[in-house]
Amino acid sequence: MGSDTITKYYDYTLPFYRFFYHGKSNAIHYGFWSDGVKNHQEALLNVNKFLADTVKIKSYDTVLDAGCGIGGSAIWLAQNYNVRVDGITISENQLEEAKNLSTKYKVNLLVNFYQRDFLNTQFNDSSYSIVWAIESVCHAEDKKDFIKEAYRVLKSGGRLIVDDGFLLRSPKNEHEQKDLDAFLEGMALSNLTFESDFKKSLEEAGFKNIKIYDKVNETLPSVKKIYKMSIFSYPLSIILEKLRLTPPLLTKNNLAGITQYRIIKNGIMGHRVFYAEK
Ligand SMILES: C[S@@+](CC[C@H](N)C(=O)[O-])C[C@H]1O[C@@H](n2cnc3c(N)ncnc32)[C@H](O)[C@@H]1O
Repeated sequence: MGSDTITKYYDYTLPFYRFFYHGKSNAIHYGFWSDGVKNHQEALLNVNKFLADTVKIKSYDTVLDAGCGIGGSAIWLAQNYNVRVDGITISENQLEEAKNLSTKYKVNLLVNFYQRDFLNTQFNDSSYSIVWAIESVCHAEDKKDFIKEAYRVLKSGGRLIVDDGFLLRSPKNEHEQKDLDAFLEGMALSNLTFESDFKKSLEEAGFKNIKIYDKVNETLPSVKKIYKMSIFSYPLSIILEKLRLTPPLLTKNNLAGITQYRIIKNGIMGHRVFYAEK
C-alpha cells in the first residue's frame, strides 16, 4: 500500500470520522470499554488515559505522536499533563485540522503538528522521551522500519507505546482470507503483522522490558458500533458509487467495517498495547 493511498484515505474520510465517529474526543481509534466507562466518548478518551498511565507520563516528557490523526491525543496530553508533543501525520487535511484544533483549545505553545512520514521523521536522534502510536503503525509496509525509526528518535531510557491490531493466526480458508483482504484494502493497510513477530522485532531493535496488554475484549463494543454503522452504510455506498457520487474507497471502507468484526470474532486479529523501553 503506497503512502499516496493512505494519504488519500485519511484526506477523504476526515469529515466522515468527524460526523459519525469521534465527536469532541477527536480520536480516530477504537475505544477501551473498561469497567466504569459509560459511553463512546469516554471509551475513546480512555485509550489516551490507559497509554498515559502505562508510560507514566510526566510534564517534563517530550512526546512524538507518530500518526497523530487530527491531534486528539496530542491535545489531550497537553491539556491533562502540560506536556510537549509533536504530532505527525501524512494527511494534509488532518494536519490542517490538527493545527486548527490546537489553536481552538489553546495548546499551541505545547503542541506542534507536521506533515511527515513516521518511517523517516527527519527529527534528530534521541529527541523524545516517549514515542506514542495509536492505530497508525499498522499502516507501515514493514513494521520493522517504524520500530527502527522510533528507537532512533527515542532518548536512552525512553518509552515506546503502540496501540494497534495484530494478527493472531492465519486465515484457515478462502472465506476467512477474503474477509481479511477486504479489511486490509478498506482500511488502507498493506498487511498486519503477527503479535509475536512485532515483539521479536522490538527485541531485535534493542528494546527492553517489553510488556503486552490484550485489549481485544475492551475494544469489542467499538468494533460492534462500526459494524452496525457499516451494515447500514455499505449498501448505500454501493448505490452512491454507481451514481458516481462517492469513490470506491468509501464502499471498500464500509465493507471493511463489516469484515473487521468477523476477523476479530473468529480470532484472526487481536488488539494489543505494546510497551517497550530503549
Ligand atoms: C487510524 S488513524 C489514528 C490517528 C490517531 N493516532 C488517533 O488515535 O486519533 C492513523 C493515522 O496514522 C497516520 N499515518 C499512516 N501512515 C503514516 C506514515 N507513514 N507517517 C505518518 N503518519 C502516518 C495517518 O495519517 C493517520 O493520522
